[in-house]
Amino acid sequence: MVFHKVGRNDPCWCGSGLKYKKCHEAFDDRIRHFAWEGHEVPGHDLLKTPEDIAGIKASAKINMAVLDEVAKQIHEGMSTLEIDNIVNEITYGMGGIPADLNYEGYPKSVCTSINNVVCHGIPSADVILKDGDIINIDCSTILNGYFSDSSRMFCIGNVSPENRRLVEVTKECLEKGLEQVIPWHFLGDMGNAVNQHAIANGYSVVRDIGGHGCGKAFHEEPWVSHVSEPGTEMLMVPGMVFTIEPMVNMGTHEFYTDEKNGWTIYTKDGLPSAQWEVQVLVTETGHEVLCW
Ligand code: MF3
Ligand code: CO
Repeated sequence: MVFHKVGRNDPCWCGSGLKYKKCHEAFDDRIRHFAWEGHEVPGHDLLKTPEDIAGIKASAKINMAVLDEVAKQIHEGMSTLEIDNIVNEITYGMGGIPADLNYEGYPKSVCTSINNVVCHGIPSADVILKDGDIINIDCSTILNGYFSDSSRMFCIGNVSPENRRLVEVTKECLEKGLEQVIPWHFLGDMGNAVNQHAIANGYSVVRDIGGHGCGKAFHEEPWVSHVSEPGTEMLMVPGMVFTIEPMVNMGTHEFYTDEKNGWTIYTKDGLPSAQWEVQVLVTETGHEVLCW
C-alpha cells in the first residue's frame, strides 16, 4: 500500500479538519506495523467516512425493505419473474436503482437461485416455485451512488429436513464468520470460521466465488474468501465495509457455469446449495451489520 505523505500538522486525510497528528497518525502507524509484518492491509480508499456510512445505510434500508416484501409475498406457484417485479417496484418506489440490472450485462434486477443453483439464477416467467424448493434471493441497491448488498434464503412449502438443515447451517456459518469480524484481526479468521462450521456439518464451501468490499462501488477490494486460514488475508480495519456471503453445498464444492446465459452457477453434482449474505462495517470495537 502507498501512504501519501501527510505532514503532522497538515489536515488529516479523513476530512475531519483536525491536524493529522491529532487524528489518524497513530491509526496509520498501526496499519503500517501490520504491513511491515507482511500482511495485506487496506488503503485509505477502502475506509468509509461517517458520511459514506450514512449513505450506505440509506441504500441498505431500501435493500432490506425489498427483501422484507419478498418474504411477505413469496409462495409456491409464483414465477421468479414476479420476484423481479417486486424488486423493481419497491426499489424504484423508494428512489433507488437495482444494482444488478445491466451490471456487466446482467439482464434482471435480482438473482433468484433455486436448489442446485449456487448463485446468479436469472428471474424468468418459466421458472415456477415448487413445493419443497429452497431459494436464495440476492438483492443489491444503489442510492445516491452508495451500494448495498444482501441475500436471504426462503423455504417454499414442505422442505425436506436435509434441505432445511442446509439452509439453517449456512446461516450459522455466516453468524460464525460475523463473530470474527473484529478490528485488527484478519479476514482469514472470518473465512476460516465459516468453513470450519460447514465442514463440521458435512458440507463444503464454494472456494472460487466470494464476498467483496462494497459501498462506493458494487464490488470493491478486498475479495473475501470463505475458506481462508486464520491470520491470513487482509487486516480488518475500522471503516472497512464488505460482504460475507458463503455458498454452502451439500455435496462437492465444485460448480459449473451455464453455457447459454453465461451467468448461472450450478453445483457440479446437482446437490443443493444455500447462501446468506450480509454487508458489514468494521467498527472500533467490533462490527455493525449494515444490510442483511
Ligand atoms: N449480488 C451479487 C453479489 O453478492 C452480485 C450479483 S451480480 C449480478 O455480489 F449481475 F449477477 F447481478
Ligand atoms: Co455480494
